[in-house]
Amino acid sequence: MPAILAIESSCDETSASVCVDGAILSNVIANQTIHEAYGGVVPELASRVHQQNIVPAVQQALFNAKVSKNDIDAVAFTRGPGLLGSLLVGVSFAKAFALARQIPLIEVNHMQAHILAHFIAEKKPSFPFICLTVSGGHTQIVLVKDYFDMEVIGQTLDDAAGEAMDKTSKILGLPYPGGPLIDKNARSGNPDAYKFPEPQIPGFDFSFSGLKTSILYFIRDNVAANPNFIKENMNDICASVERRIATILISKLKKAADEYGIKDVALAGGVSANTGLRNLLTETGEKNGWNVFIPKFEYCTDNAAMIAIAGYHKYLKGEFIGQDVAPLARMPF
Ligand code: KG4
Ligand code: ZN
Repeated sequence: MPAILAIESSCDETSASVCVDGAILSNVIANQTIHEAYGGVVPELASRVHQQNIVPAVQQALFNAKVSKNDIDAVAFTRGPGLLGSLLVGVSFAKAFALARQIPLIEVNHMQAHILAHFIAEKKPSFPFICLTVSGGHTQIVLVKDYFDMEVIGQTLDDAAGEAMDKTSKILGLPYPGGPLIDKNARSGNPDAYKFPEPQIPGFDFSFSGLKTSILYFIRDNVAANPNFIKENMNDICASVERRIATILISKLKKAADEYGIKDVALAGGVSANTGLRNLLTETGEKNGWNVFIPKFEYCTDNAAMIAIAGYHKYLKGEFIGQDVAPLARMPF
């Protein structure tokens, strides 16, 4: 019955979770609103806010789970990838906790954890499955052969899908983070109102920088003709951009599922919270006889529950790490 305390601090969410015997008992997420004023995450500020939030987040996670710190058997933490200063806060906390309690430490790869979040739910994918992982920093198609045996078979050559969402929202004058706002506006818009180009990239790779440029020019030209263009057409623009990003992602996912002959298809990462993307995946899955796995909203964006479930499966394998571990801004699988 291992009780695991998990810490996530790779970007701008400070999160702590308690997992007992593979069941998530708490998942506390402290969002950092300070970055809104800057239109993006400011790494230096993120580290400082993690420093302020980490102890209260852990205390709350233990309280919500009704578990005493004395009953924790291991500490799992995000080692990378992420912002180094942010990671350092979580890694240092995890080390100190483990040292004080004389319990083992478990390192977790943040991108693997987004995928392993699917093992929190009752309905779990079976190996091998394909996962489209879409976040603010990554866009990957991953062939998941086992819990920790994953192969990236496609990825973005430039911007991530979340970045494309956030940059579009910036062009539209929406506050940061823009992804959720594009989603909200898109719900009342027509996704076929405007046609943005689909990049022609070979294999399972993606590119979003051309799309970003075409959106920029499209807005610039239309605003030159009508200064109220954005205001008058906000919902249609958001719906059309969202639809294009979703079709780019899902067409590559389908290509991968077809070529590998895989029917269990999953979605992960912050952008998997997007309604248009979730709907398109569900529709495509129905047409192709896939078993589709979409995480609960709470487990889409950054959270420590996914670190806890990944940590639990490493605990079962006896995979621990020493106190000399350091965070990694880049961390391949
Ligand atoms: O995985 P995540 O929380 O953090 C990273 O590891 O990057 O992903 C954050 C990204 C941001 O780009 C954010 O705009 C996007 O996920 N996002 C969304 C939605 N919710 C979050 N994008 C579109 N629609 C959403 N509902
Ligand atoms: Zn993430």
